[in-house]
Formats: sequence, C-alpha cells, structure tokens
Amino acid sequence: MKVAEIPTPALVVDVAAMTRNIQRMADFFAGGSCQIRPHFKAHKTPAIAKRQLAAGSCNGLTCATVGEAEIVAEEALTDDILIANQVVGSGKAARVAELAKRSDMKVAVDSEFGLDDLARAAQAAGVEIGVLVDVNVGLPRCGIAPGEPALALAKRVDATDGVMLRGMMGYEGHVVGIEDRAEREPRATKAMGRLLESVRLTREAGLPCEIVSAGGTGTYDITGGMEGITEVQAGSYALMDTAYAKLDIPFEQAFSVLGTVLSRPRPDQCAADCGHKACTQDHGNPEVKGVERAVVMFLSDEHATISLPEDSEIAVGDRIELWPSHIDPTINLHDVMYAVEGEDVVDIWPISARGYPEQRRR
Ligand SMILES: Cc1ncc(COP(=O)(O)O)c(C=O)c1O
Repeated sequence: MKVAEIPTPALVVDVAAMTRNIQRMADFFAGGSCQIRPHFKAHKTPAIAKRQLAAGSCNGLTCATVGEAEIVAEEALTDDILIANQVVGSGKAARVAELAKRSDMKVAVDSEFGLDDLARAAQAAGVEIGVLVDVNVGLPRCGIAPGEPALALAKRVDATDGVMLRGMMGYEGHVVGIEDRAEREPRATKAMGRLLESVRLTREAGLPCEIVSAGGTGTYDITGGMEGITEVQAGSYALMDTAYAKLDIPFEQAFSVLGTVLSRPRPDQCAADCGHKACTQDHGNPEVKGVERAVVMFLSDEHATISLPEDSEIAVGDRIELWPSHIDPTINLHDVMYAVEGEDVVDIWPISARGYPEQRRR
C-alpha cells in the first residue's frame, strides 16, 4: 500500500523518526542506575511498545488503566507492569489480582480505601500485588501528601496481607510541559525533592523502597538524572506532539494525522476531513505540516478549517497532514496507525488498548 492510498482521516507514523526517538531515549539511560519504564498510555499500541522494550534500558511498561495492563499482558509485551494510577472502582482490583497470577504487577496507591480493596482482591485470588505509594509532588491530581502522610501509608501497606510495599512514585505533571528549561529544571527538582524526602523517611523507618518512579518526556533528563530516582515513566517521546516540540528535548515529531482536502470555498481557506473526531485540541489546535503559512483556524466534528495564503496551490482532493498538539487523546480516537517509510505503508498497527478495551470483551 502507498501513503496516497490510505483512507483518511488516519494516523501516520514516520517509522524512521520514531525509531530515532526510541533509540535516543534508550541511549540516554543505557548503563545507568535509572531506567525508563515507557508509558503505554501515550500510544496504546503493542507494536510501538515492543520496539521501546527491544531498544533496551527499560524496566517493563507503565500503564494508566487496568484495561491497558490487560492488553500488555494479553500481548505478552512484558511481565513487569506498573499501573501508575489509582485502581479504584467496581471489579478493577479483582482484575489486577488476576493479572498478578502471571505478571509482576505494581499499582500506585494513595488511599486506605484503594489499598484495602487491592488487598482483599489479592487475598481472594491467592496472589500478592506490589504497591508504590503515590506521593503528590505538586500536580493537583492524585497522590498522598509527601513526608509523614506518605510514610504512614507506606507503613499501612507494609502491615497489610496480600500487598507488598515495592516503593514510591510521584508524577511532576505540572512541570513537564514548561518550555523554558531554566524554569522547568528547578521546579522539577523541587517536586522530586518531595518524593525523595518521602523515600528517605520510609527507608529510615526500616521499610523497603526499591522502586522510585517518576518523570515524563519533558523531564526525562532532569528527573532521570537525579540520584535516587530508579525509573522514568515517559511515553510521548516516541511520537511527540507540538506541545512537546516547543521544549529543548532531542525528540522529533514522528506522527501526524493525515487528511484529505474536501473543499476550497475561498482562496484563503480550505476544509479537510480531519476534524476533532480525528484529532484532539486539548493542548491547542494542531499545526499544518509542511505547508507554509497554513494555519488551522478551528476543528469541527468532521472538518479542519485551515487558513491558507491566497497563492497556495492546495486543491480539493489533495492530502494534508496535521501535527497534533497532544498525542495521547488523539491516538485514542483511532483503531490503527499506518507505519510509513517514504511513500510506502510498511505496516498497519492496531491501537489495541484504545478506548476502554474491557467494553469490547462483553
Ligand atoms: C502518571 C504519569 N506518568 C508519566 C507521564 C508522562 O508522560 P509524557 O511522556 O507524556 O510526559 C504521565 C502523562 O500524563 C502520567 O500521567
């Protein structure tokens, strides 16, 4: 199949650029005490996870949901899985316990409610589930307060049957996207100070804390270069998006949304078939790849309305490519990605964990 034959809208991966991104990250961590645990949520695509793991310097995979972890296990990508998120909700702990029968499962926990739920499910299944205490390092989302509250939860984990304290994690998501490194670096260091202080207290109390997990694409070399951090949970680096492309990090945009021009109603405007059902806008409008002075004005359900210089030769039926501003939710809209080398489609990769895979099992 040729790129020109791909039905649009569609996701297109530049395999050579993605391979360079994956290799750069693996090389950065090669031989060091900190490793990468690629975040599967970024792409939800087994073919990409396989390449990340094969490149080396990896401690298994990170997942955001039980559904993703089930796909990782089903596809036998790795048996070392961290769900870097709270597992709370009907039936979820039992599903993790089921996974723990064949995988080394670790789950982030920030509440006694979540801990007790996991412990009950583990006891019922006759397994042990690893726990990382999830410490709030500044992102207003999940995570127990650092210091004494984190230590108290760690003690509670250590004293509970069915779960095993494996370490701590803290995601500095409030700083990973700061464009200016002079601001990003001290803020990431401060956030990680909160995690490392909680780790210190835990170890001083005689508790195990073998894994210290943190970081994202924007902080991989800051957080990943700090003494005491054992793994970085970055995911976006493999494909990248326009938000991360603004940072001074050595990863290329390897991924775009391919569309077809449906209409050129005015000389200074066209509409393509890649609207917000094909490309999300939560980090801003996508950019138009390779067409000078073309700017996405807005996305509607099935259309991208793009302003063009009046002398542009873009015509109805032409292909157009958008660089998404945020890959994770954009990828989640599609069933497959087209892996491309030059003008050739070399493979079509299922996005196996897109949406909520458990809904498809009913
Ligand atoms: C818990 C957690 N860890 C790590 C990441 C890092 O991902 P990225 O590579 O997109 O920075 C995220 C992204 O949202 C996350 O939620």
